[in-house]
Amino acid sequence: MHINLLLEKLDSLTVEEKIGQLVQLTGDFFEKDLDTVVTGPLKKLGLHSDYNVYNTGSILNVTDPKRIIRLQTDYLEQSNHKVPLLFMADIIYGYRTIFPIPLAQACSWNFKEIEQAASISARECYDEGIHVTFSPMVDIVRDPRWGRVMESPGEDTLLAKKYAESTVHGLQGKQPGSVPQDKIAACVKHFAAYGAPVAGREYNAVDMSEHMLREYYLPGYQAAIDAGAKLVMTAFNTLNGIPATGNEWLNRDLLRQEMKFDGVLISDYAAVEELIMHGYAEDAATAAKLALMAGVDIDMKTAVYANQLESVISGNEHLEQLLNDAVYRVLKLKNDLGLFEDPFRGLKATLQQGTRILSDEHKTAARSLAEQSIVLLKNEQDLLPLSKKTKISLIGPYAEEHSTLGMWAIKGDEADTVTLKEGLLKHIDSDQMSVCRGAHLLPDHAREPLGKYVDKLPVETVNEDILLQEAIRHANESDVVVLALGESIYQSGEGGSRTNPTLPETQAKLLHELSQLGKKLVVIVYSGRPLILTEVAKQADALIQAWYPGTMGGEALANILYGTVNPSGKLAMTFPRSVGQIPVYYNELNSGRPNLPENGAYRFASRYIDEANEPLYPFGYGKSYTTFDCSLLSVSRKEIGPDESVDIEVSVSNTGRFDGKETIQLYIRDRFASVTRPVKVLTDFRQIFLRSGETGTVQFSIREDMLRFYGSSMKYQSELGDFEVYIGTSSQETPLHFSFSLRSEEQS
Ligand code: GLC
Repeated sequence: MHINLLLEKLDSLTVEEKIGQLVQLTGDFFEKDLDTVVTGPLKKLGLHSDYNVYNTGSILNVTDPKRIIRLQTDYLEQSNHKVPLLFMADIIYGYRTIFPIPLAQACSWNFKEIEQAASISARECYDEGIHVTFSPMVDIVRDPRWGRVMESPGEDTLLAKKYAESTVHGLQGKQPGSVPQDKIAACVKHFAAYGAPVAGREYNAVDMSEHMLREYYLPGYQAAIDAGAKLVMTAFNTLNGIPATGNEWLNRDLLRQEMKFDGVLISDYAAVEELIMHGYAEDAATAAKLALMAGVDIDMKTAVYANQLESVISGNEHLEQLLNDAVYRVLKLKNDLGLFEDPFRGLKATLQQGTRILSDEHKTAARSLAEQSIVLLKNEQDLLPLSKKTKISLIGPYAEEHSTLGMWAIKGDEADTVTLKEGLLKHIDSDQMSVCRGAHLLPDHAREPLGKYVDKLPVETVNEDILLQEAIRHANESDVVVLALGESIYQSGEGGSRTNPTLPETQAKLLHELSQLGKKLVVIVYSGRPLILTEVAKQADALIQAWYPGTMGGEALANILYGTVNPSGKLAMTFPRSVGQIPVYYNELNSGRPNLPENGAYRFASRYIDEANEPLYPFGYGKSYTTFDCSLLSVSRKEIGPDESVDIEVSVSNTGRFDGKETIQLYIRDRFASVTRPVKVLTDFRQIFLRSGETGTVQFSIREDMLRFYGSSMKYQSELGDFEVYIGTSSQETPLHFSFSLRSEEQS
């Protein structure tokens, strides 16, 4: 629809109809006859009884195509204004073909395949009538106690920017304006800094300097906006005392003015009403006013806008204008999706033709990304890959577990998942492998706190002692033990903060008992976060971080265990040695008294007296079945002006016996600046595949714009001076090093 017609449509709406466009409800408000709705969900939500559901602008998490057709058809028949409904859903890392969780995907450092994953998710959503997805989540995370690290691309700003851009492009396409066929609208979240709650406790306060916010947390959102994200979602948390959902500086001055976001700002679930609980709005009317003034366009699943906005804006021209602006943005989103021309976006035709859900192409892409997201953390004496002649005992609650999709796979069907056992049986015959559970997934005391998910946990039917005895017998009868362990998917994700993020005690006990048998142990860890694996690593001969690897996870893992695939994953988030180190991350500041190894136990240094500073596994770390050597071939110059670059060539050799891919990482340290800079900042990286014995080269160019940061003046700019460059295969393994200087035009 032409923009002028859109404005005419806006003008034609009554105030009640305008406000309705800013309300998002769930499908149950539209299912039954109106009386049932009024006495049921409408009353429960606190909507005034005269609220007309056929003014509602969008629906949350209805994902059945036939139901979408029925709701949209009924709605358009019943509504006076005939503005179609928007259907929005949490399709975070896959619709029915589920990819690895985002934290795992980021460990692939393969943003081309991450974009492809998003594109496949969009295609499957498109086929079933979803218009908007609440992805990408790009909250930077440094605290694995927080359950939602599983949804994040990790601790690093560069990876978050690349994840944001790739996911938006995959979901929405790269063209501005209309959202084409097979694509859906992306909603970047949660604005802002939701990933930094105090103590890693869900929904807790976020306090950080504006410098920290701008330097580390905002660039991911900015990248999504620059990539064209049509929506942004507000965060639940306060930011420096003001709830994000009511924060005018954050949403209008920063997001809309400075970051140039002109799309739809939707609140998180019930976050508008929660302004009251925060102690920011004293009542619903104030909450409505504060949220509208803070630029929130859509009130997700509360009655605040619906009940309060008409009276709040009455007689106030400024607020009336804010309302019109908000409604216009919602109408424009619907127009960009082509809903005025076809409210079903081709859904009816698709239902006849058949969808592409779980196609072989989609499953192949999911397996490929899973293979690259899995991280090999330890491999003593090259125990892996396994020989197909080796008799293995596959033991643990994840041996045959289908529930490996993670918490935000709302359309994923666990029955579609390839289990580890099924994956292994594609490589070996069943007489090569014994399988048993070995332990309960969780101890009883850890079940109740999972709240509504308790009923989804596996029912443990066998006594633990019996399970253990069976495991010991299987282990003794095998050459190698493959232990499939991990936290429950319900121990991570939203509301899944843990004070002690370790393996469940039931499984730690199993591992300890089996480690006494003198058998080689391969430990595979399923988790939505970096667990504290220090004790696990001591007992394992080989250790693999599987995350929640998605629909094809079992096949991907088996391909790695038997060497069909050489693992190449590199950690996107640091693994602490102990909870006491949290938050521990690679891009830390040096402090005035760094804890230098040569100083030994010198007391007055930045250190602990009961723990090392170094993490168990650092950012960027991941082993391979082969070995790589890299050397600095050339550095074009040691001094650059603003328009010049340092051009670098690195030679990489595969010195082992397996073909493999390595990720060469380039870190920079700005030696002296108006704001102290981290000891290392990931500035670029290259991935190179080399056959055994092969040598190749990778090139980097360091330009002035890559040296910019928020200085003491809070301006984003580089500062003249000296820089250290570190190149290697993790944030701690950087054998290649040189320095260069940035000079002004005159000086150089
Ligand atoms: C949830 C999450 C958000 C999600 C929304 C809709 O509480 O915070 O990420 O998109 O509600 O389900």
